Amino acid sequence: MFQRECVTCHTGAPDTRAPSPEVLKRRAPEAILSALTAGGMRPQGGRLTGAERRAVAEYLGGRPLGGDITGAAFGRCGTVPPLTLAPDAPAWSGWSPTTANTRFQSAEHAKLTDQSVPKLKLKWAVGFPDATSAWSQPTVAGGRLFVGSQNGTVYALDAKSGCIIWTFTAKSGVRNAPAFGPRQGGGYAVYFGDTGANVYGLDANTGAQLWMTKVDEHPFARVTGSPTLDGTRLYVPVSSLEETAASQPGYECCTFRGSVAAIDTTTGAIAWKTYTIREPQPIGTNAQGVMLHAPAGVGVWSSPTIDHKRNAIYITTGNTYAGTTAEPNTDALLALDPASGAIKWSRQFTENDVFGCRPGTPNCLEKSGPDFDFGTPALLVTRSDGKDVILLGQKSGVAFAVDPDKQGEVLWQYRAGEGSIWGGIQWGMSTDGVLLYIPVSDIRTPKPGGLHAVDIVTGQRVWYQPPPDVKCAPGATCNAALISAPTLIPGVLFSGSNDGGVRAYATKDGSVLWEFDTNQDFTTLNRVRATGGAIQGPGPTIVNGMVYLNAGYGDHMGRPGNVLLAFEAP
Ligand code: HEC
Repeated sequence: MFQRECVTCHTGAPDTRAPSPEVLKRRAPEAILSALTAGGMRPQGGRLTGAERRAVAEYLGGRPLGGDITGAAFGRCGTVPPLTLAPDAPAWSGWSPTTANTRFQSAEHAKLTDQSVPKLKLKWAVGFPDATSAWSQPTVAGGRLFVGSQNGTVYALDAKSGCIIWTFTAKSGVRNAPAFGPRQGGGYAVYFGDTGANVYGLDANTGAQLWMTKVDEHPFARVTGSPTLDGTRLYVPVSSLEETAASQPGYECCTFRGSVAAIDTTTGAIAWKTYTIREPQPIGTNAQGVMLHAPAGVGVWSSPTIDHKRNAIYITTGNTYAGTTAEPNTDALLALDPASGAIKWSRQFTENDVFGCRPGTPNCLEKSGPDFDFGTPALLVTRSDGKDVILLGQKSGVAFAVDPDKQGEVLWQYRAGEGSIWGGIQWGMSTDGVLLYIPVSDIRTPKPGGLHAVDIVTGQRVWYQPPPDVKCAPGATCNAALISAPTLIPGVLFSGSNDGGVRAYATKDGSVLWEFDTNQDFTTLNRVRATGGAIQGPGPTIVNGMVYLNAGYGDHMGRPGNVLLAFEAP
């Protein structure tokens, strides 16, 4: 079954999006079954009978189905007081501490300085069972930490001690940062999406489900980017894995449309949903007689940014999967009207970037585009001269400053990397209003990595920190690429690397103040066997004197791992 249905994508080559058979074998059969029925692999699972799904899950998992996949049998808290939140209490909710998406945590909330950072020590570790990637950025509020996991378990932990307060089981994997906010009528809620395109609202105190809403019916749709909460509205980016199916013989490529949905957090109802491209139309059959459709794609896998001054939501978009007609909103910055979702304006950075299938396969054009979509959200910031700018980082390796008052007109651009299908600039950047910090992936080039600091008024380089010696054991997936999003506090930038190391850099000159190697086995509070590994996707969460970091990324030329680490300076 695995040979027939799975090996075409799960080839075992390091440079693919699909985890290798060895990585899949580290998952439990329950987790594989759930991926095939409700998770990212449900289109593949849907082609099999129930018995076939069980057979392939038990084959890969190496044992019969059954057993606990929450990893919460040990490490539970004793009695915990109900969740309360003082107005100015240190917190971090969602992708960035504020909806401007600068990933800058203030001194008051961070309670950590360039003096205390060098003293950071590991305080506790929690393991995610059956996981080969740890890719949900923690949210911290009211002394609790909320985090999702690859097998769909969502945890509320005591933020200081790491003990488990409650768990919730989503229908499929949760890889975004939960958003935290007050509920109408009292209490608090957390919101997140899963790889089955379901969005949830939970009572933050108890973990009880308030509502669940499916934001997209497409079989490959998922919520990768972190939803942004603004008052009683939750803005949810919708992306897909259709790109990976596009090359499959017999697949009717392609029909997914990227979008953003606005959800009313009181009821879970969708207030509006705006697609990034028009509806796909049949465009004829390929040589095998399979009907093809276009345009398609333009997923949104970064977090929406809110601009209250200009009454706009900014989103950054992906490439098209199919078709030859130029589409204006691909690889673009879009400004939406918060009330209606209408597109106010859009600014495109790469035209005609059709990248879905690989050239030479039946559904594809002879040439594919460069795959220069945006995974980094729009960073909205006020410069020292009082001017508001939007900073963007593209997989092309180029960072831009654009004018929000002139429909995204480019003010300057700075080439930080060569660019490739996995960045260039992949998941994030940070700014403190003076400098823009740009971590470079360039993972597919001979020289991955490097960190740039650029003046946000002039676009000129202030310093550059070349890739350090790697911490991982030599191999095809061991390199210094900086794919994950960085995190900033006054004076210090934290950046996790694909080598499994996390480093803290002084913002004045880029010198390394502190580093930690996650490539090791950890003793975890919940007694789940856990290791670190490649750090990709989200970055550290810093709240109230503590640094929280997920380590392990089992695909995209990463190395598997399944641990949440918490550091504190004594
Ligand atoms: C069309 C290509 C394709 C086929 C066919 C395919 N996969 Fe996958 N699979 C992927 C990709 C790509 C990912 C990585 C998803 C991600 O990055 O979130 C993946 C991820 C997974 C995961 C991890 C999902 C999670 O989030 O927990 C499992 C388990 C899995 N595949 C099992 C299978 C099995 C079993 C089969 C055969 C029945 C199969 N896949 C067939 C492309 C494919």
